[in-house]
Amino acid sequence: MADWRELNRAWWDERTPLHVASELYDVEGFKAGRQTVEPFEQRLAGDVAGLRLAHLQCHFGLDTMGWARLGASVVGLDFSQPAVDAARALATELDLDARFVCADVYDAVEALGGEVFDLVYTGLGAINWLPDLARWADVVAALVRPGGRLLLSEFHPFSHVFADADRTVAYDYFSDEPLVWDDEGSYAADGAATAHNETVEHQHTMGEILTVLLERGLRITAFEEHDHTLFARWPDLVRREDGTFRLPEGSPRLPLMFALVAERPG
Ligand SMILES: C[S@@+](CC[C@H](N)C(=O)[O-])C[C@H]1O[C@@H](n2cnc3c(N)ncnc32)[C@H](O)[C@@H]1O
Repeated sequence: MADWRELNRAWWDERTPLHVASELYDVEGFKAGRQTVEPFEQRLAGDVAGLRLAHLQCHFGLDTMGWARLGASVVGLDFSQPAVDAARALATELDLDARFVCADVYDAVEALGGEVFDLVYTGLGAINWLPDLARWADVVAALVRPGGRLLLSEFHPFSHVFADADRTVAYDYFSDEPLVWDDEGSYAADGAATAHNETVEHQHTMGEILTVLLERGLRITAFEEHDHTLFARWPDLVRREDGTFRLPEGSPRLPLMFALVAERPG
Protein backbone atom coordinates (compact mmCIF):
# COMPACT_ATOMS: atom_id res chain seq x y z
CA MET A 1 0.00 0.00 0.00
CA ALA A 2 1.29 3.47 -0.82
CA ASP A 3 1.87 5.73 2.16
CA TRP A 4 -1.50 6.28 3.90
CA ARG A 5 -0.74 9.88 4.74
CA GLU A 6 0.14 10.86 1.18
CA LEU A 7 -2.93 9.09 -0.22
CA ASN A 8 -5.25 10.77 2.26
CA ARG A 9 -3.65 14.18 1.87
CA ALA A 10 -3.95 14.02 -1.94
CA TRP A 11 -7.62 13.09 -1.48
CA TRP A 12 -8.28 16.06 0.83
CA ASP A 13 -6.23 18.51 -1.25
CA GLU A 14 -8.33 17.67 -4.30
CA ARG A 15 -11.66 17.71 -2.40
CA THR A 16 -11.11 21.05 -0.67
CA PRO A 17 -12.13 23.35 -3.57
CA LEU A 18 -15.08 21.06 -4.30
CA HIS A 19 -16.18 21.30 -0.67
CA VAL A 20 -15.72 25.07 -0.56
CA ALA A 21 -18.10 25.26 -3.54
CA SER A 22 -20.53 22.62 -2.23
CA GLU A 23 -24.11 22.93 -1.07
CA LEU A 24 -23.33 20.85 2.03
CA TYR A 25 -20.73 23.30 3.36
CA ASP A 26 -22.80 26.33 2.19
CA VAL A 27 -20.00 28.90 2.41
CA GLU A 28 -22.28 31.71 1.26
CA GLY A 29 -24.64 30.94 4.16
CA PHE A 30 -21.65 30.90 6.51
CA LYS A 31 -20.52 34.30 5.22
CA ALA A 32 -24.03 35.55 5.93
CA GLY A 33 -23.73 34.43 9.55
CA ARG A 34 -24.77 30.75 9.61
CA GLN A 35 -23.40 28.99 12.73
CA THR A 36 -21.88 25.56 11.96
CA VAL A 37 -21.08 24.55 15.54
CA GLU A 38 -23.88 22.15 16.41
CA PRO A 39 -26.25 23.09 19.27
CA PHE A 40 -25.21 19.99 21.28
CA GLU A 41 -21.55 20.97 20.86
CA GLN A 42 -22.28 24.49 22.11
CA ARG A 43 -24.20 23.06 25.07
CA LEU A 44 -21.34 20.71 25.99
CA ALA A 45 -18.67 23.41 25.63
CA GLY A 46 -20.62 26.01 27.61
CA ASP A 47 -19.56 29.64 27.34
CA VAL A 48 -16.37 29.75 25.25
CA ALA A 49 -15.94 33.54 25.26
CA GLY A 50 -12.30 34.32 25.88
CA LEU A 51 -11.18 30.68 25.81
CA ARG A 52 -8.11 29.57 23.85
CA LEU A 53 -9.41 26.85 21.55
CA ALA A 54 -7.50 24.50 19.21
CA HIS A 55 -9.45 22.71 16.48
CA LEU A 56 -7.64 19.61 15.21
CA GLN A 57 -8.30 18.42 11.63
CA CYS A 58 -10.24 21.59 10.92
CA HIS A 59 -10.66 21.15 7.14
CA PHE A 60 -11.20 24.65 5.68
CA GLY A 61 -12.14 26.04 9.05
CA LEU A 62 -15.89 26.67 9.13
CA ASP A 63 -16.32 25.12 12.57
CA THR A 64 -13.09 26.76 13.79
CA MET A 65 -14.51 30.12 12.73
CA GLY A 66 -17.87 29.15 14.21
CA TRP A 67 -16.16 28.89 17.61
CA ALA A 68 -14.50 32.27 16.94
CA ARG A 69 -17.96 33.74 16.35
CA LEU A 70 -18.88 32.42 19.81
CA GLY A 71 -16.01 34.41 21.28
CA ALA A 72 -13.14 31.91 21.50
CA SER A 73 -9.63 32.74 20.38
CA VAL A 74 -9.07 29.92 17.90
CA VAL A 75 -6.40 28.09 15.99
CA GLY A 76 -7.26 25.41 13.44
CA LEU A 77 -4.84 22.72 12.31
CA ASP A 78 -5.05 20.54 9.23
CA PHE A 79 -2.53 18.70 7.05
CA SER A 80 -4.07 19.89 3.77
CA GLN A 81 -2.43 23.10 2.51
CA PRO A 82 -5.36 23.99 0.20
CA ALA A 83 -7.72 23.63 3.18
CA VAL A 84 -5.54 25.87 5.35
CA ASP A 85 -5.23 28.43 2.52
CA ALA A 86 -9.02 28.47 2.04
CA ALA A 87 -9.56 28.83 5.80
CA ARG A 88 -7.11 31.75 6.04
CA ALA A 89 -8.74 33.51 3.07
CA LEU A 90 -12.20 33.15 4.59
CA ALA A 91 -11.07 34.30 8.05
CA THR A 92 -9.47 37.38 6.47
CA GLU A 93 -12.57 38.12 4.39
CA LEU A 94 -14.83 37.79 7.45
CA ASP A 95 -12.37 39.57 9.74
CA LEU A 96 -12.48 36.74 12.31
CA ASP A 97 -9.91 36.10 15.05
CA ALA A 98 -8.77 32.70 13.72
CA ARG A 99 -5.30 31.35 12.93
CA PHE A 100 -4.63 28.30 10.81
CA VAL A 101 -1.62 25.98 10.84
CA CYS A 102 -0.75 23.33 8.27
CA ALA A 103 0.56 20.18 9.96
CA ASP A 104 -0.13 16.54 10.57
CA VAL A 105 -2.21 16.06 13.71
CA TYR A 106 0.48 13.78 15.13
CA ASP A 107 2.88 16.78 14.96
CA ALA A 108 0.39 19.24 16.45
CA VAL A 109 2.27 19.84 19.73
CA GLU A 110 5.38 21.11 17.91
CA ALA A 111 3.39 22.79 15.13
CA LEU A 112 1.42 24.81 17.71
CA GLY A 113 4.65 25.86 19.42
CA GLY A 114 4.02 24.03 22.69
CA GLU A 115 0.98 26.22 23.44
CA VAL A 116 -1.73 24.67 25.64
CA PHE A 117 -5.45 25.29 25.30
CA ASP A 118 -8.55 25.70 27.45
CA LEU A 119 -10.51 23.64 24.93
CA VAL A 120 -9.34 21.21 22.26
CA TYR A 121 -12.12 20.48 19.80
CA THR A 122 -12.14 17.82 17.10
CA GLY A 123 -14.33 15.37 15.27
CA LEU A 124 -17.10 15.08 12.68
CA GLY A 125 -15.10 12.74 10.51
CA ALA A 126 -11.64 13.21 12.03
CA ILE A 127 -10.44 10.18 14.00
CA ASN A 128 -11.36 7.73 11.22
CA TRP A 129 -8.32 9.12 9.32
CA LEU A 130 -5.89 8.16 12.07
CA PRO A 131 -4.25 4.73 12.32
CA ASP A 132 -2.99 5.10 15.89
CA LEU A 133 -5.53 6.45 18.38
CA ALA A 134 -3.19 6.12 21.37
CA ARG A 135 -0.74 8.48 19.65
CA TRP A 136 -3.62 10.88 18.91
CA ALA A 137 -4.61 10.81 22.58
CA ASP A 138 -1.00 11.65 23.57
CA VAL A 139 -1.27 14.75 21.36
CA VAL A 140 -4.67 15.75 22.76
CA ALA A 141 -3.56 15.27 26.37
CA ALA A 142 -0.48 17.43 25.74
CA LEU A 143 -2.52 20.22 24.14
CA VAL A 144 -5.14 20.52 26.90
CA ARG A 145 -3.97 22.72 29.78
CA PRO A 146 -4.37 21.35 33.31
CA GLY A 147 -8.04 22.02 34.10
CA GLY A 148 -8.81 22.33 30.38
CA ARG A 149 -11.04 20.10 28.27
CA LEU A 150 -11.31 18.04 25.11
CA LEU A 151 -14.61 18.16 23.21
CA LEU A 152 -14.82 15.24 20.81
CA SER A 153 -17.90 15.11 18.61
CA GLU A 154 -17.97 12.26 16.13
CA PHE A 155 -19.97 9.96 13.95
CA HIS A 156 -20.76 6.92 16.07
CA PRO A 157 -18.40 4.00 15.39
CA PHE A 158 -21.31 1.56 15.52
CA SER A 159 -22.92 3.34 12.56
CA HIS A 160 -19.86 2.44 10.46
CA VAL A 161 -20.73 -1.28 10.44
CA PHE A 162 -23.54 -0.62 7.95
CA ALA A 163 -23.27 -0.52 4.14
CA ASP A 164 -23.87 2.90 2.58
CA ALA A 165 -26.40 1.62 0.06
CA ASP A 166 -28.88 -0.33 2.18
CA ARG A 167 -27.76 -0.37 5.85
CA THR A 168 -27.07 -4.10 5.90
CA VAL A 169 -24.31 -5.06 8.35
CA ALA A 170 -21.22 -5.14 6.15
CA TYR A 171 -18.20 -4.27 8.31
CA ASP A 172 -16.64 -5.79 11.40
CA TYR A 173 -17.04 -3.40 14.34
CA PHE A 174 -13.92 -4.81 16.02
CA SER A 175 -11.63 -4.96 12.97
CA ASP A 176 -8.12 -3.48 13.25
CA GLU A 177 -7.58 -3.69 9.50
CA PRO A 178 -7.27 -0.41 7.57
CA LEU A 179 -10.27 0.35 5.35
CA VAL A 180 -9.05 1.13 1.85
CA TRP A 181 -11.55 2.93 -0.38
CA ASP A 182 -11.37 3.94 -4.02
CA ASP A 183 -14.28 6.24 -4.83
CA GLU A 184 -14.73 9.30 -7.01
CA GLY A 185 -16.32 12.43 -5.51
CA SER A 186 -17.05 12.74 -1.81
CA TYR A 187 -19.81 13.05 0.79
CA ALA A 188 -20.11 16.72 -0.20
CA ALA A 189 -19.33 16.39 -3.91
CA ASP A 190 -21.37 13.44 -5.08
CA GLY A 191 -20.58 12.48 -8.68
CA ALA A 192 -17.62 14.85 -9.04
CA ALA A 193 -14.92 13.55 -11.40
CA THR A 194 -11.82 13.28 -9.23
CA ALA A 195 -8.35 11.84 -9.85
CA HIS A 196 -7.10 11.00 -6.34
CA ASN A 197 -9.64 8.51 -5.13
CA GLU A 198 -7.85 6.08 -2.85
CA THR A 199 -8.02 6.61 0.91
CA VAL A 200 -6.99 4.65 3.97
CA GLU A 201 -9.29 4.95 6.98
CA HIS A 202 -9.64 3.24 10.33
CA GLN A 203 -12.39 1.92 12.52
CA HIS A 204 -12.04 2.77 16.22
CA THR A 205 -14.49 1.21 18.64
CA MET A 206 -16.16 3.24 21.38
CA GLY A 207 -14.20 1.18 23.91
CA GLU A 208 -10.91 2.12 22.26
CA ILE A 209 -11.83 5.82 22.13
CA LEU A 210 -12.77 5.96 25.81
CA THR A 211 -9.80 3.83 26.87
CA VAL A 212 -7.08 5.92 25.17
CA LEU A 213 -8.44 9.04 26.88
CA LEU A 214 -8.83 7.42 30.32
CA GLU A 215 -5.33 5.92 30.09
CA ARG A 216 -3.92 9.44 29.75
CA GLY A 217 -5.58 10.54 32.97
CA LEU A 218 -8.36 12.50 31.27
CA ARG A 219 -11.65 12.46 33.18
CA ILE A 220 -14.77 11.90 31.06
CA THR A 221 -17.26 14.46 32.37
CA ALA A 222 -19.91 14.08 29.67
CA PHE A 223 -20.78 11.40 27.15
CA GLU A 224 -23.85 11.35 24.92
CA GLU A 225 -25.12 9.42 21.91
CA HIS A 226 -27.39 10.88 19.24
CA ASP A 227 -29.96 9.41 16.85
CA HIS A 228 -29.22 12.03 14.20
CA THR A 229 -26.35 12.70 11.84
CA LEU A 230 -25.26 15.59 9.64
CA PHE A 231 -25.36 14.18 6.13
CA ALA A 232 -27.42 11.75 4.03
CA ARG A 233 -25.31 8.69 4.78
CA TRP A 234 -28.16 6.36 3.78
CA PRO A 235 -30.69 7.09 1.04
CA ASP A 236 -33.75 6.86 3.31
CA LEU A 237 -32.58 9.31 5.99
CA VAL A 238 -35.01 12.17 6.46
CA ARG A 239 -33.63 15.72 6.56
CA ARG A 240 -35.20 17.89 9.26
CA GLU A 241 -35.59 21.64 9.12
CA ASP A 242 -32.62 22.07 11.47
CA GLY A 243 -30.40 20.35 8.86
CA THR A 244 -30.01 17.07 10.80
CA PHE A 245 -30.72 13.67 9.23
CA ARG A 246 -32.71 10.94 10.99
CA LEU A 247 -34.04 7.47 10.22
CA PRO A 248 -37.65 7.51 9.00
CA GLU A 249 -40.38 7.83 11.64
CA GLY A 250 -41.17 4.36 13.03
CA SER A 251 -37.78 2.79 12.15
CA PRO A 252 -35.79 1.46 15.11
CA ARG A 253 -33.27 4.14 15.97
CA LEU A 254 -29.49 3.70 15.80
CA PRO A 255 -26.70 5.67 17.45
CA LEU A 256 -25.46 7.88 14.61
CA MET A 257 -23.26 10.36 16.50
CA PHE A 258 -21.67 10.74 19.90
CA ALA A 259 -19.99 13.52 21.82
CA LEU A 260 -17.84 13.57 24.92
CA VAL A 261 -16.05 16.02 27.14
CA ALA A 262 -12.83 14.93 28.82
CA GLU A 263 -11.10 17.10 31.39
CA ARG A 264 -7.42 17.17 32.26
CA PRO A 265 -7.18 17.31 36.05
CA GLY A 266 -5.84 20.69 37.24
C1 LIG B 1 -14.16 15.64 7.60
S1 LIG B 1 -12.87 16.76 7.89
C2 LIG B 1 -13.02 17.25 9.55
C3 LIG B 1 -14.33 17.62 9.92
C4 LIG B 1 -14.77 19.03 9.75
N1 LIG B 1 -15.73 19.21 10.77
C5 LIG B 1 -15.42 19.30 8.43
O1 LIG B 1 -16.25 18.52 7.96
O2 LIG B 1 -15.16 20.34 7.87
C6 LIG B 1 -11.41 15.76 8.07
C7 LIG B 1 -10.14 16.60 8.00
O3 LIG B 1 -9.07 15.82 8.53
C8 LIG B 1 -7.90 16.22 7.87
N2 LIG B 1 -6.90 15.19 8.13
C9 LIG B 1 -6.95 13.87 7.80
N3 LIG B 1 -5.85 13.24 8.26
C10 LIG B 1 -5.09 14.18 8.90
C11 LIG B 1 -3.85 14.15 9.58
N4 LIG B 1 -3.16 13.01 9.70
N5 LIG B 1 -3.37 15.29 10.12
C12 LIG B 1 -4.06 16.46 10.00
N6 LIG B 1 -5.24 16.56 9.35
C13 LIG B 1 -5.76 15.43 8.81
C14 LIG B 1 -8.31 16.37 6.42
O4 LIG B 1 -7.43 17.18 5.68
C15 LIG B 1 -9.71 16.97 6.59
O5 LIG B 1 -9.67 18.36 6.44
